[in-house]
Amino acid sequence: MSSITEILKQAETAPPDHENIIRLLSVTENSERQELYTAARNLKYSVSGKFVSLRGLVEFSNICCCDCFYCGVRKSNPNFRRYTMSIEEIVSCAEKAAAFGYGSLVLQSGERSDADFVDFVEKVLLKIRHLHLGVTLSCGVQTLETYQRWHAAGASRYLLRIESSSKEIFNKIHPEEITWESRVEALQNLRKADYQLGTGVMIGLPGQTIEDLANDIEFFRTVDADMIGMGPYLPQDCTPMGKLYPDFPGDAEKKLLLTLNMIAVVRLTLRDVNIASTTALQTIDPVSGRERGLLAGANVIMPNVGDTEFRHDYQLYNGKPDLDENAFAVREKLLNSLRNIGEEPLFNALGDSKHYHAGKN
Ligand code: 5AD
Repeated sequence: MSSITEILKQAETAPPDHENIIRLLSVTENSERQELYTAARNLKYSVSGKFVSLRGLVEFSNICCCDCFYCGVRKSNPNFRRYTMSIEEIVSCAEKAAAFGYGSLVLQSGERSDADFVDFVEKVLLKIRHLHLGVTLSCGVQTLETYQRWHAAGASRYLLRIESSSKEIFNKIHPEEITWESRVEALQNLRKADYQLGTGVMIGLPGQTIEDLANDIEFFRTVDADMIGMGPYLPQDCTPMGKLYPDFPGDAEKKLLLTLNMIAVVRLTLRDVNIASTTALQTIDPVSGRERGLLAGANVIMPNVGDTEFRHDYQLYNGKPDLDENAFAVREKLLNSLRNIGEEPLFNALGDSKHYHAGKN
């Protein structure tokens, strides 16, 4: 059997196969983990340089029609005040992102598909078009027609996580009306509508195995994802799963390490995709979670540019950091921490997925 060092050596020139993906995901010994992260980081540097792409994140509405068993903004959680920012408020966040030099924006919300919501998002997109930001939407499952309208109005990227590529796990964490098949169909529709396609999973879900995570990576390849957003599953008090498995922060470090392994192996397998170092990583390790994600192969960070007024009501999981920090403070902190780990923020750039453009050549 090849050693981890040999597998990583081979990964310099070709993606690891299923068996080696499992070997790499399973690494727990400290020196082997460091080898894994170094290999992934070096590959990242050769794909996109030492640059970290920045996306201003606006969580513009927490109204949601879904009742996912893990998610804090699920419709039947009565503990949050429900809000939708006004068009002017969203535009002002987008202007702030542009002024900060972020170059791109993520507009995220709960899932709604009524005509008013579809129109609303379209209007927002048209109003921020002149800022020439790379705009990513993360507003759940919609029809192909809606995806096309939003694309025509200026959105060029879309994040829709599969949450778990295992149908069995997917069905356990979602109510009956949310099906794995419809999520996959939505991903295919996003492709048809010509978005840069982002997907991802939660890591450390009850019952999830290393084999499942390896299959998740295969899934990302099958749907030809351009961007990957993954984070540890974190219980949220007011959700059915949070009540059933209130283990956090019991094995937080274990989950963090598994997430870092997953980031590194996704980098080594999918190579030229954008990978986000997500807020959930920062939640699990507030001091350096996000930085550790970058050092394990991620190349995108999504600093919040929304107003603190809304932050408390958008808690997908417990312990979300920086709830009271305004966008400027978030930016300062981020730039400092990037400096500390020797990575450079990429200012005023769209930060497109290299994979997307490679596919077009
Ligand atoms: N823990 C971790 N991630 C979560 N998300 C929602 N709830 C949780 C949770 N409890 C993630 C989902 C979703 C994204 C917007 O937030 O993966 O796609």
